[in-house]
Amino acid sequence: MESVEQLHSQVTSVASATAARHSGHSLTLDQIMHRFGAMLALNNINITIEPGEFVSLLGPSGCGKTTLLRIISGFLNPSSGQICIDGQPVASLLPNQRGVGIVFQNYALFPHMSVWDNIAYGLRAKKVARGRISNKVGEMLELVQLGHLAKRYPSELSGGQQQRVAIARALAVEPKLLLLDEPFSALDKNLRLDMQIEIRRLLHEQGVTAILVTHDQEEAMSMSDRIAVMSQGTIHQFDTPTNIYDRPATRFVSTFVGTCNLLAVNFIGQDGDDYLLQAPGGGRLLISTDTDVPQDRPLSLAIRPENFRIKTQASTHCLPAIVEIAIPLGAVITYEIRIAPDTKVKVTQPRIAGTPALEPGTTVYLELASARACSLFAAQDA
Ligand SMILES: Nc1ncnc2c1ncn2[C@@H]1O[C@H](COP(=O)(O)OP(=O)(O)OP(=O)(O)O)[C@@H](O)[C@H]1O
Ligand SMILES: [Mg+2]
Repeated sequence: MESVEQLHSQVTSVASATAARHSGHSLTLDQIMHRFGAMLALNNINITIEPGEFVSLLGPSGCGKTTLLRIISGFLNPSSGQICIDGQPVASLLPNQRGVGIVFQNYALFPHMSVWDNIAYGLRAKKVARGRISNKVGEMLELVQLGHLAKRYPSELSGGQQQRVAIARALAVEPKLLLLDEPFSALDKNLRLDMQIEIRRLLHEQGVTAILVTHDQEEAMSMSDRIAVMSQGTIHQFDTPTNIYDRPATRFVSTFVGTCNLLAVNFIGQDGDDYLLQAPGGGRLLISTDTDVPQDRPLSLAIRPENFRIKTQASTHCLPAIVEIAIPLGAVITYEIRIAPDTKVKVTQPRIAGTPALEPGTTVYLELASARACSLFAAQDA
């Protein structure tokens, strides 16, 4: 039987873990708009990030990610709109009063300062007592596992080590929010993965609310509680990684996140709650969707390569097609398959060892893996 002391320590450790998870702060962006001269860089940004949440801003170059971080941190005032931390407007606060830590893409360490001094910098600036600075820097060095390099200068560190110093420096002042602007872009693939895992763990332990800017979709998918997918100054979708992938809200999201085939289709009828669509090449598909289907307009059907099934026999709802190229990729095989003179699709299937790939020129019939394994958009929408 467990002793009272053991039970107590279990309860308190659970309680403190829970406290860590909820010790973060919330951020609300309300109708944020920003213009650089005539150029609208951000247009009506509305999101609320929960305490302790890890959110990625994902979008192509120039879509406004860094601009949004600069606005949150207070280095740039938005043309209009409101920013609240824990429900309180922060417009009147200077950057150093907002409790927002930033890790820039290039880490921006002070080259003439040791690792220790870099981490202590923000605490000294806040005039924290010397003893507390020493404790805090020690704690941070332990957290990022760089205690043995405390006396080194940035030029004597690897990229990954410099990055950990930058993160330790940002976390040392116990920010309410941590903003990370493409912090992994200079790292090679393996180190990048190690750092992604480490930082996710670190922030989770500390219960810090964090926003990561990236244009790497795998990074966003693997690290985030939720992703805001941005294009041309607007947020197209703010949702969990799985929903973003499975239920893209717009055509842009369907093609920007993961690979997607976009087929020009027409509505030809309804079968109960399902919609019958005509695809290029004359094939028909029956799909199920929760979104409204505009029946009198050209439509775009988005289907991910893994959501097709390749059959050798025709069925009621399938796309007759001809295999053009087979590309074996280890665990999967990707085919390029022509369904009409001007329309090819990519189809990915699991690859079974010893099973030969389909030959170019083979006639096949493509079916949907499930009536819901697709998304439908009005063709003229973004
Ligand atoms: N100070 C500025 N003056 C004028 N235009 C600017 C300024 N800063 C950014 N822009 C413009 O605003 C748009 C958004 O820029 P931003 O830096 O936010 O993009 P980003 O999404 O961070 O891109 P990247 O992935 O390339 O870093 C771009 O078109 C950019 O040229
Ligand atoms: Mg940027």
